Amino acid sequence: MTQDDPDDPGDSTVGSYARDIQPKFRPGDVACMARKRIKLGDATWMCDAAASFGFADHGNARIVFAKLSAKAMPPDGPWPQDWLDTYRNWIDTGFQP
Ligand code: HEM
Repeated sequence: MTQDDPDDPGDSTVGSYARDIQPKFRPGDVACMARKRIKLGDATWMCDAAASFGFADHGNARIVFAKLSAKAMPPDGPWPQDWLDTYRNWIDTGFQP
């Protein structure tokens, strides 16, 4: 499988938060994390380039990915690898809304 494979859009197209990421968060994920000021359902928050959270840029998106890829979140079972790959592609293609 190559980067240009048209059957592999998750790894070959520019990612979109609204299209690729937001739909993967369940209502319960959004509600539980909103209480901790992690705004999974908020594109402006998720795509904020100036957010830090200890990272140089895009800290909100990066802390969320850190928890997902470490399988620390969500608490009831980790995301499948292809979802993590899609999130990684969204990061690598510029955190587009
Ligand atoms: C895809 C789903 C989820 C993502 C991406 C996510 C993301 C995160 C992130 C980034 C943190 C760190 C916050 C910080 O350091 O300030 C965190 C912490 C936490 N989350 Fe979630 N979360 C998810 C689902 C949930 C759900 C459904 C619950 C509750 C049932 C939950 C409960 C917690 C709790 C209690 C903490 C604080 C303790 C800890 O860090 O382990 N999360 N989560």
